[in-house]
Amino acid sequence: MLSNKIKNALNEQIQKEAYASNVYLTLATWSEERNLDGIAEYFYAASNDEREHMLELYKYLNTYGGSAHLKPLKDTTVKQKNLLEVFKYVFDLEHEVTVSINKLAKLTYEESDFATFKFLEAFVLEQQQSEKSVNDLIDMIKRVGYDEKNLFYLNKTFKKNEERKAQGLPPVVGSEPDKD
Ligand SMILES: [Fe+2]
Repeated sequence: MLSNKIKNALNEQIQKEAYASNVYLTLATWSEERNLDGIAEYFYAASNDEREHMLELYKYLNTYGGSAHLKPLKDTTVKQKNLLEVFKYVFDLEHEVTVSINKLAKLTYEESDFATFKFLEAFVLEQQQSEKSVNDLIDMIKRVGYDEKNLFYLNKTFKKNEERKAQGLPPVVGSEPDKD
């Protein structure tokens, strides 16, 4: 069974995943308001991913003697003015989650809760992947540029990448915008 310390830490992580899910929804709105439907799709999917992480932790906590509880979330607002700023903000958000997952994994190790340590392994690896893929997107945005014309192509590339993801294919993050 889980120690109280681990139960509390898992509950804290649940809040963070839920908050990330909400931030991504806010960024989907930011994109829709600028007619960037492909980029909005990316954020809707990212929001779903975070909700799934939240649910996984939620169920794990409830299964092993804890009492999962989602607190009211702090408001999410987007002050970022352009797509590069938005994705730098996304990187910071993901990095915060990485730091917090690593702290949680460290705690489970110190407490000799190796089952939870093992359970968290997928989250640790997922964060490593998330940071890398957001970083790749930042590189792409920097190379392509994000003025009106380039946003049109970036939007198409994001849309195409969501289709590729559905087919189990890796994203395209090349330096040239997709012009199909
Ligand atoms: Fe997550």
